[in-house]
Amino acid sequence: MGRILLTGATGFLGGAVLHQALSRRDGTEWVCLVRCPSAEQGRQRIAARLSRFTDPFTAQRLARSVEVVPGDFTRADLDADPRLDSVTHVLHLAADTSWWGEERVSRTNHDGTLALARRARTMPRLARFLHVSTAMICGAEAPSLVEEAAYPSRDARHLVAYTVSKAAAETSLAGTFSDLPIVVARPSIVVGHSTLGAAPSSSILWVIRAADRLRLVPCDPDSAVDVVPVDWVADSLLGLLRKSQLAHDLYHVSAGARARATWHDLMRAFEAADPAGGVRTFTRFDLAADRALLRRRFAETFGLDGSLKQAMLRAVRAYYAFSSLDLTFSNARLLAEGLPPPPAFADYLKVCLANAPEITEQFADDLDMFVPPAPSLPLTASA
Ligand SMILES: NC(=O)c1ccc[n+]([C@@H]2O[C@H](COP(=O)([O-])OP(=O)(O)OC[C@H]3O[C@@H](n4cnc5c(N)ncnc54)[C@H](OP(=O)(O)O)[C@@H]3O)[C@@H](O)[C@H]2O)c1
Repeated sequence: MGRILLTGATGFLGGAVLHQALSRRDGTEWVCLVRCPSAEQGRQRIAARLSRFTDPFTAQRLARSVEVVPGDFTRADLDADPRLDSVTHVLHLAADTSWWGEERVSRTNHDGTLALARRARTMPRLARFLHVSTAMICGAEAPSLVEEAAYPSRDARHLVAYTVSKAAAETSLAGTFSDLPIVVARPSIVVGHSTLGAAPSSSILWVIRAADRLRLVPCDPDSAVDVVPVDWVADSLLGLLRKSQLAHDLYHVSAGARARATWHDLMRAFEAADPAGGVRTFTRFDLAADRALLRRRFAETFGLDGSLKQAMLRAVRAYYAFSSLDLTFSNARLLAEGLPPPPAFADYLKVCLANAPEITEQFADDLDMFVPPAPSLPLTASA
């Protein structure tokens, strides 16, 4: 396809993109901007991420086929490395995905993205700059079927600083960099891999499992949750990079109306995938009013000893807030480009549960997102 600059290669989505793309050996050159002291150390970081998708030998082989440029995308405008000049496509995945820590996430996700865009202006062969945002920039009061064009919106009520920073980056890119061939992709909630299950990452999967164990739903059981697997997201992003003509410059990469799950579907899917857990009867509760119920049930189910469990309870509460919003992100634009539709979460839940470690262990994959920016959000016993 050309020469692609990838940011975020050491992350969950970046690993999936590289694994899918490099396994195809289609002659594309991949240049990875990685935070590392040397190119070899960066390559080892990429190999470590790829080894979550394949055996260690193949991971090393694949990692050897990319060019590694040590660097920080937030300072890309100061990076004169000539290997960046001949890039034809940028896939910008890197971000600070922690939910709190306003100043830091804004600096990385907004200011940093603009620094990368300034560097992209000096790439004479650039045909596409695919910026990966998040569908959650719609905020908490969006209609239940969310269309791309309605956002970013000044009126959105954000739940966390992370989505504020992603919305701001989109607004500034559109306002200041209309000379660049920017396309924005907004994944919804990325959970597991459709054939490798939880091996690449347990991110967010642990919280869906925790909800199943807690037997608590924070909303009407017919509310929708828009979940997609990482391999499908990776293929969709590669499709959006590859197509020379696109009808739009903004796409949800989401389950959409056909593949979304309701809480009710999730309960039935757990019953089918994990019959040993019995018939699921869930209690509907009010996240704001019934804090004590959630805390008590959590303590009975997982224990509440130590700061890890307390962080996990805070994270469960935060995710429950998102998953009670009843949002489905339309993927009609993506499908109209001829890209394959996503599988439904219920169809690959079983593979996600196979050989899965304890839920508290899986939480480790998301722990960084919930480390509070001291001293404003201390881990207290009242979490
Ligand atoms: N996962 C989801 O459910 C989801 C849903 C919607 C949208 N997204 C978006 O998809 C993208 C990727 O998400 P993810 O889940 O793969 O995130 P992730 O696993 O947290 O990975 C983040 C990546 O960004 C890199 N990074 C952060 N700051 C950097 C910097 N200053 N310079 C260079 N690299 C930097 C990290 O590098 P280090 O390894 O050096 O830290 C890592 O490779 C993000 O833009 C996110 O907003 C994700």
